[in-house]
Amino acid sequence: MRPNLSAEPRAAVLAGLGGYVPPTVVTNEMLAQRLNTTDEWISSRTGIRERHVAAPGQATSDLAVEAGTRALKSAAGNGTPPEADLVVVATTTPDHPLPGTAPAVAARLGLGNAAAFDIAAVCSGFVYALATASAAITAGLARQALVIGAETFSTILDPNDRTTVPIFGDGAGAVLLRAGRPDEAGALGRFDLGSDGDLAELIIVPAGGSRQRSTGQPAPVEDTYFAMQGRAVFVHAVNRMAQSARTVLDATGWTGPEVDWLVGHQANARILRAVADQLEVPTDRAVMNLDRVGNTSAASIPLAMADAAERFTPGDRLLLTAFGGGLTWGSATLTWPNLEI
Ligand code: COA
Repeated sequence: MRPNLSAEPRAAVLAGLGGYVPPTVVTNEMLAQRLNTTDEWISSRTGIRERHVAAPGQATSDLAVEAGTRALKSAAGNGTPPEADLVVVATTTPDHPLPGTAPAVAARLGLGNAAAFDIAAVCSGFVYALATASAAITAGLARQALVIGAETFSTILDPNDRTTVPIFGDGAGAVLLRAGRPDEAGALGRFDLGSDGDLAELIIVPAGGSRQRSTGQPAPVEDTYFAMQGRAVFVHAVNRMAQSARTVLDATGWTGPEVDWLVGHQANARILRAVADQLEVPTDRAVMNLDRVGNTSAASIPLAMADAAERFTPGDRLLLTAFGGGLTWGSATLTWPNLEI
């Protein structure tokens, strides 16, 4: 990275956006044939009707490269060079325990020796990565940053678990950020990030890390899968997203009713509606694509943004808010730029 020591106020500005989901679709009906569940249960409790899953052998970086390619192409089509000197990949399903997934993604995207690292904040990962990349740009550490949320949750779910399999899908979403001015359309505004590690056990893959390995014993197979206490998570998700969103609204000087689009983490339609209600954002202004993609964890917000982008108009006020394992949460504000994707 080459430092830029200019004293002008800088902001990170959204310059490109792209999403990718793998082609294989799994509908609720298909799940009902092999799990003890129904389309009615899944769609009424979650709002999800289908999700995409990675093909055998397709890893998180493969999805990340597709989304990254689209974000770079979108940037080029909107007049920003498709370059980045920083690549951040938000994921909790990395290709390997080490090295990070981001360096491989940067190399495959032809981004040379860009600084590249992963961020693991589960479903809040994209907002954490966006905040980190935005801070790098405003501090003059990076000129352009590619921020990707990418997940293959299908690789960590117990295929026989009806409480998790219907909820999650695979996918990736990416944005290219460039250095710009705080008053231009597309500028990222305020951020709020938080965590509560006392509640780590609510969303966890118990085995595979140093805690389990330090015992010297092989892990029971059930401990290698994703586990979630859904009902408790539901309540924390609503409260934390609403609280965090209010913090950035106050800092930005916007009220809930003034928000044009709420781009919330696509966990569950009932959660999103409850957050919108608490913030007094009209429900039809809460972007939802979870019916078609499910919960794609760190990919959820950029995928939802890419999906809804054609409905946004330049200058629209966007509120992003996410919640996930950790527990973690985060929110951001931005104005929508004149962006074709
Ligand atoms: N099909 C049919 N029944 C199911 C089922 C399924 N796929 N999954 C669970 N059930 C059953 C449960 O076993 C339970 O049965 P019981 O009452 O006999 O014990 C019953 O449905 C109710 O389960 P519960 O977990 O209390 O349901 P819920 O209304 O809370 O909905 C979630 C479950 C997971 C959809 C909901 O809690 C949720 O969305 N939580 C948040 C999850 C989330 O968003 N996580 C990601 C955050 S980053």
